[in-house]
Amino acid sequence: MSVKKPRPVARTWALPAWLAAAALMLTGCGGGGATTDSGQAQSTLSPAAALGEKIFKDASLSASGKMSCASCHDPSAAHAQTNALAVQFGGPALDVAGLRAVPSLRYLSTTPAFFFSKDGKPNGGFNHDGKADTLLAQAIRPFMAAHEMANGDARTVIDKLARTSYAADFRKAFGSNVFNDPDAAFLAVRYALQRYQLEDSAEFAPFSSKYDAFLAGQARLNDAELRGLALFNNPTKGNCASCHPSARGSDGSAPLFTDFTFDNLGVPRNTEIPATADPAYFDLGLCQVDRPELASRTELCGAFKVPTLRNVATRKAFFHNGRFKTLREALRFYVTRDTQPELWYPVVNGVVDKFNDLPPAYRANVNTTEVPYNRKPGDAPALSDAEIDDVIAFLGTLNDGYKP
Ligand code: HEC
Ligand code: HEC
Repeated sequence: MSVKKPRPVARTWALPAWLAAAALMLTGCGGGGATTDSGQAQSTLSPAAALGEKIFKDASLSASGKMSCASCHDPSAAHAQTNALAVQFGGPALDVAGLRAVPSLRYLSTTPAFFFSKDGKPNGGFNHDGKADTLLAQAIRPFMAAHEMANGDARTVIDKLARTSYAADFRKAFGSNVFNDPDAAFLAVRYALQRYQLEDSAEFAPFSSKYDAFLAGQARLNDAELRGLALFNNPTKGNCASCHPSARGSDGSAPLFTDFTFDNLGVPRNTEIPATADPAYFDLGLCQVDRPELASRTELCGAFKVPTLRNVATRKAFFHNGRFKTLREALRFYVTRDTQPELWYPVVNGVVDKFNDLPPAYRANVNTTEVPYNRKPGDAPALSDAEIDDVIAFLGTLNDGYKP
């Protein structure tokens, strides 16, 4: 008996050059845009990337008509949220609460697709849980999700796009018939957004912080910043660099302050997030993700991606659930989580409900072995208040836009 293979679905249009390029992008990310010797980013964008910038800033592509990518990823806040809310509100009336804090979109161009390294550890991917393998795939959710731009389907997005002032440019770039096929047009939209984020290095990867100038021998760090850097790197003090690397790569590349791995920090529950009103609601990070290969890996429940710390001092809400509102609070949590857990978790019948944002079965997944989390109640914290001040001073050198 002969088995017929399903035929590939025929498209009514030929594979245009941009789509071939998009297919290539599916396998990995390209580098950022070119930079000149002086470190100044060049601002020549491809037609697709130039369209991507328009799309990124176009609120007419949302159900509310008031929300664009830039509303949550504001260029003035290192492409993250400008406010201190744990979660943003989207949907047609901008009253549907999200579930996670908004990450910065800077320095993502070398993020690998999600994979397990040889030692079985998860790495890479986009979003706090690494769920999206590429920027192309990532961009589906914000357009569709009920708590974000809330379009529901590709046709709704494309009908709005066809009415924009740049619709003619879009046809020119992606073919005169592109609006006839909503799925192809929506792919083109996401391709344009991806090209914008990868090519516009002046926006997304300027490497223009004081620390970059310091590494290039063009600026000095002051005493507090230098002490903070030493504490950040010291494996027995902050040990921060073990997950947020601060040194150049072996190829001389600038440090990104993330090693693209995942970890479980046991960040306290944030009741500011409306979803937490349901006691059965938990954001389980990596194991929340609908990926069959993770179903049995319950030890990953509660693990979230290590974010870059570049521009972290511009944030007003920290960690995946936005639980902390200042860097000082975030760092005090790091070093007193285990020495004084009652500062951070509710005390129920005289017992500290430690790691209360995880179901009891997964609380043992929290990292309690690495510095600075390897302490017991009554121990001295890994960093004193004065040392925290120094680390904060150092983190301030990671903001883009340093002017000597
Ligand atoms: C309502 C606010 C909101 C809007 C609008 C929004 N985002 Fe996001 N974005 C988020 C949140 C929250 C996350 C983290 C989501 C998660 O972890 O599941 C995120 C994550 C991302 C990431 C992954 C970053 C990383 O560190 O891996 C990218 C890329 C991104 N958004 C791009 C976009 C683009 C492009 C648009 C417009 C099409 C957009 N976003 C619109 C809130 C928003
Ligand atoms: C074992 C790995 C590890 C170590 C060590 C570590 N971090 Fe982190 N860091 C993470 C992970 C994972 C997250 C994200 C956790 C989450 O969202 O729940 C994070 C998040 C952060 C954030 C919040 C960033 C944001 O965008 O919300 C700050 C600030 C931070 N780390 C600073 C530090 C400092 C300073 C040190 C040293 C004292 C340090 N980290 C040590 C893994 C680590």
